[in-house]
Amino acid sequence: MGNNLLKGKRGIIFGALNPDSIAWKVAERAYEEGATLTLTNTPVALRMGETKALAEKLNTKVIGADATNVDDLKKLFTESIEFLGGKIDFVLHSIGMSPNVRKERHYSDLDYNYLDKTLDVSAISFHKILQTARKLDAINEWGSVVALSYVAAQRTFFGYNDMADAKSLLESIARSFGYIYGREKRVRVNTISQSPTMTTAGSGVKGFDRLLDFAERMSPLGNASGDECADYCITLFSDLTRKVTMQNLFNDGGFSNMGMSLRALQQYEKGLYTDESTGKRSKDHSWD
Ligand SMILES: NC(=O)c1ccc[n+]([C@@H]2O[C@H](COP(=O)([O-])OP(=O)(O)OC[C@H]3O[C@@H](n4cnc5c(N)ncnc54)[C@H](O)[C@@H]3O)[C@@H](O)[C@H]2O)c1
Repeated sequence: MGNNLLKGKRGIIFGALNPDSIAWKVAERAYEEGATLTLTNTPVALRMGETKALAEKLNTKVIGADATNVDDLKKLFTESIEFLGGKIDFVLHSIGMSPNVRKERHYSDLDYNYLDKTLDVSAISFHKILQTARKLDAINEWGSVVALSYVAAQRTFFGYNDMADAKSLLESIARSFGYIYGREKRVRVNTISQSPTMTTAGSGVKGFDRLLDFAERMSPLGNASGDECADYCITLFSDLTRKVTMQNLFNDGGFSNMGMSLRALQQYEKGLYTDESTGKRSKDHSWD
């Protein structure tokens, strides 16, 4: 049940591939809150994924666009404004892809053509979206643009590879463009740093199931789900957060401010004091 938080607002949602996608959940929640929106993804994703089914459910259309292609983005904004009947109020950038991760290239042995692709798709596309929107004057005053990030932008996580560099750049673009767009047009630009979430992109990261479990044990409130990320996005698209801009906002159950938790320590202890040959615990230690 919605509360009409986005009533009358028009949006563009990038990156809804299938029902696991965070963007899918955001689109559903935005619609529930009274928004009208268009969906967009790459031509390949539109062939392989389920975006069209979501469009039917939300009474809208899908406009194909590669977010690294400025001409595609111009067409996307122009057609969205035409279809929705006015300028845009919110945009979600929910896009990530690393060929180095996909091909299991080690961070100390990166393929630089792949790295260019990682940065272009996962970060520079955010700049391209903002620059295109500004040049077309496609976003209303007090509009809100959000991209999804991960804490590997600040801290090192095994296996996250060159996506960490992409997320750092993404967050920097939010600050740099947020200043310009805020000053000129009162448009807000933020990133949400989300907990690990089981999606197509997420599960591409090495050891992802264990990372998810570790984050769950470390976070006092537990991992934030895709639905909870969608809720947070809705607040940032709404008029309730008009003065929030140029921020990287953690939606992670407290993970980013933890050093060690009791639950993680207890799990670690189990491994430490279990005899690998017999599987029996050799020593007990209690924590309080
Ligand atoms: N899943 C997680 O654990 C997690 C955690 C923190 C942040 N994020 C971020 O959330 C965002 C969404 O990812 P997700 O987990 O929902 O996975 P997902 O695989 O469902 O979504 C990724 C989307 O990016 C799209 N995409 C790839 N290349 C593109 C291009 N050139 N142009 C336009 N779209 C393109 C894909 O088609 C797909 O729809 C990503 O930025 C991801 O890094 C994910």
